[in-house]
Amino acid sequence: MLRGKKILIGITGGIAAYKIPPLVREFKKQGAAVKVVMTKAATEFINPNTLAALSENEIVTDTFPDASLSVIKSETWHIHLGTWADIMLIAPATANTIAKIAYGIADNPVTIMALSVRCPVAISPAMDTYMWENPATQENLSKLRQRGYRIINPEVGELASGLTGKGRLPEIKKLTTSIQKILDKAHQDFSGKKILVTAGPTYEPIDPVRYIGNRSSGKMGFAIARCAAERGAKVTLISGPSNLETPNFVERIEIETAEEMYNQCIKHSSKSDVVIMAAAVADFKPEITANRKIKKEDIVSNNLTLKLTKTKDILETLGKKKKKHQVLVGFALETDNEIENAVKKLNRKNLDFIVMNNPLKNGAGIGSHTNVVSFLHKNGTKEIFNKMLKDDVANQILNRISKLNRS
Ligand SMILES: Cc1cc2nc3c(=O)[nH]c(=O)nc-3n(C[C@H](O)[C@H](O)[C@H](O)COP(=O)(O)O)c2cc1C
Repeated sequence: MLRGKKILIGITGGIAAYKIPPLVREFKKQGAAVKVVMTKAATEFINPNTLAALSENEIVTDTFPDASLSVIKSETWHIHLGTWADIMLIAPATANTIAKIAYGIADNPVTIMALSVRCPVAISPAMDTYMWENPATQENLSKLRQRGYRIINPEVGELASGLTGKGRLPEIKKLTTSIQKILDKAHQDFSGKKILVTAGPTYEPIDPVRYIGNRSSGKMGFAIARCAAERGAKVTLISGPSNLETPNFVERIEIETAEEMYNQCIKHSSKSDVVIMAAAVADFKPEITANRKIKKEDIVSNNLTLKLTKTKDILETLGKKKKKHQVLVGFALETDNEIENAVKKLNRKNLDFIVMNNPLKNGAGIGSHTNVVSFLHKNGTKEIFNKMLKDDVANQILNRISKLNRS
């Protein structure tokens, strides 16, 4: 049920806009308060007066609305609506609006609100199959997913064009259930907490153009950062080189080398209630970095020998500096003697628990959207999980930290 929930609906100019008045009725029936903003194109498909009557609120259809509207508490109406809503639903979301949000364009009431709300934003795309399958639309949606927008996938069925395919706005029941689920998940158990997360690989330079790196994509650490921010934490994400989008409300600090990662971690860890180290930091770096490109002809023999030296152990340092109320979580990527090695790491580095994964397992580790992990806890307990999405792994980690309940 949606009793007491405040739902902001953004309607854009798709033919499925006709499905929104009954959705507003359903939300109201379930006890929610509803406010609606619309694009100009949306008003071509559905009359704002209908929505005003059903939502019992005036509708914003213009960036500079009539100041006499009671829904407008001040000229900065977008700030007022942004703090009012528990959730924003954009439905139907046109390909055009999805593209605008992906690029941060805020030129109408819906796109302004998509950028300015503090709450989760659910986007329910509806369009012709060709528009849906277009790589531009898919790339924009992928950007939005990575930033933490919840995409409610369209359904396969008969479309307004008369064709059948993917692109239909889901029925009211499915939209309502999706909103309920997002609101259920959006409990703010990390509100007021500062969380430091590390992600991605490090690059250790050999010369100005070459480096020693690893295959880490950053997906696991970014998922933790996104989920922690969704649960109310103030998140700092220290990331090695990664193409991933920065999740909404996350402060991202970019580094390249293990040394830079070390320095940033030391700087930020003492201010953090929780530190989760998911980065794949290099254990070794070239002892000397050449200041010019090493040329083939400069090497007289057939071999070039690189002397490597150990990098500083970030997790061990943080374990030594750990404050009484701080939670410290590490990752162990092991391909053999997994448990034994991970337990040693857990104890040596003074961690609360360690997330162990073996990249050789099907569906686990580097680059994939899923992971197969076990949690080994300080008190000796062990939890073994089946293959999970990295978002789910992230939330399981946060659930364990939440239960430790240190403040
Ligand atoms: C009859 C008609 C139906 C349309 N239906 C859709 C649709 O279902 N989905 C979509 O993405 N665009 C659709 N469009 C295109 C959008 O209306 C157009 O891209 C518009 O600029 C969207 O503006 P907005 O995103 O600001 O609301 C349709 C256009 C017409 C003329």
